[in-house]
Amino acid sequence: MMLFVISLAALACTAAARPSLSYLENHFSAETGEVRSAAIKRLLEVFGMEDPPAVHGHKQAPQYMLDLYNTVADVDGVTKDPYLLEGNTVRSFFDKLHSEQVEFRFNLSTVARTEKVLTAELHLFKLRPQSTLTFNRHHFCQVSVYQLLDTSRNNTQGRKLLSSRLIPVHSTGWEVFIITQAVRSWMVDEGSNLGLHVVVRTLGGSMMDMKLIRFASGRTHHQSKQPMLVLFTDDGRRSTTLESIDPNDTTATATSSLPQTPMSGPSSRTARSLDYSEEEGALPCQRQALYVDFEEIGWSSWIVSPRGYNAYHCKGSCPFPLGQNMRPTNHATVQSIINALKLINGIQTPCCVPDKLFSINLLYFDDDENVVLKHYNDMVAGSCGCH
Ligand SMILES: *[C@@H]1O[C@H](CO)[C@@H](O)[C@H](O)[C@H]1NC(C)=O
Ligand SMILES: *[C@@H]1O[C@H](CO)[C@@H](O)[C@H](O)[C@H]1NC(C)=O
Ligand SMILES: *[C@@H]1O[C@H](CO)[C@@H](O)[C@H](O)[C@H]1NC(C)=O
Repeated sequence: MMLFVISLAALACTAAARPSLSYLENHFSAETGEVRSAAIKRLLEVFGMEDPPAVHGHKQAPQYMLDLYNTVADVDGVTKDPYLLEGNTVRSFFDKLHSEQVEFRFNLSTVARTEKVLTAELHLFKLRPQSTLTFNRHHFCQVSVYQLLDTSRNNTQGRKLLSSRLIPVHSTGWEVFIITQAVRSWMVDEGSNLGLHVVVRTLGGSMMDMKLIRFASGRTHHQSKQPMLVLFTDDGRRSTTLESIDPNDTTATATSSLPQTPMSGPSSRTARSLDYSEEEGALPCQRQALYVDFEEIGWSSWIVSPRGYNAYHCKGSCPFPLGQNMRPTNHATVQSIINALKLINGIQTPCCVPDKLFSINLLYFDDDENVVLKHYNDMVAGSCGCH
């Protein structure tokens, strides 16, 4: 099955994309382990990773990230609405400080330098005021989020206002503050990340009693209410097509050359024609199921959702004459005519390949056990055609 995954990833329209499996099994049985690890490494690269994240024990993904995933993707991970997210990555971070004060710090070391920060949000869970204090003349309070600055570097005050808003005193639930500016500056200089400070004032500007306005902290409250930073970014990755694979990349070459092996020997033509008549002769080009099971691949410990997805694959022949249901390109039509007329030797019938591709989304734990939602283009064959 892995070999199909590889050929799908490469989207190669060659006879080599449909290797005879029995040939490969016989040929590679001695090296199966090696092939498997090379194939899985290549598959990780498709998902933009070098190594599988190490996740220890069972962790719970934040509800916000689960809800976001379910809004963006269906159960199979296929994108429901491609315009919902601006970038292709959403990362969540829990506060590392666990301070008694309303101070927070987030470790952003897993964000790649090349990622473009689009929006950063501080999510705080506002608790109900303590009952003894509920009779109070204040109905609203002013909540301000400050970025803490290194006073030894700048002779300004030690903080910079990021966001400020009026919040009803008696409300309870999540409050979101935009802190994009601060996160951009931390991305430029990691050492400048001294954290955030939240100040609550009355409408008159005096300090509010912090027993009245309380936010859940990672220290004393349930995990589901922990302060969280949500970062929307774009990693600049568009799609993994054949063109984007570096020809000098040894892993890419090693794996993509695997299916081509049967073509290199003198017997390749017979292997191909046998393959053709047995498997494809009767069947016109069509889309068939190809389930990529993350559990089978060994990734279920770090992928939260989906458990797997149907990538589909394109299979079947493209004989003359090509009907419109084969969705042929003009080029394919001409090629099939030349093939049928046998005008030139060695011109094969067109290939049955995906002609529409859909994106999928993955919700997973990264190396630092933060939950990440990532969007991947061109992962599911939407339809097949003769090209
Ligand atoms: C952030 O996390 C990384 C990896 O877990 C760690 O190496 C680094 O020391 C952390 N930074 C801070 C400031 O805690
Ligand atoms: C600190 O001052 C330097 C110039 O003196 C400036 O470039 C930098 O943006 C300042 N940092 C902050 C966080 O305001
Ligand atoms: C690949 O390597 C060759 C020499 O080994 C070099 O000439 C060529 O520019 C490289 N191609 C890429 C895309 O790096």
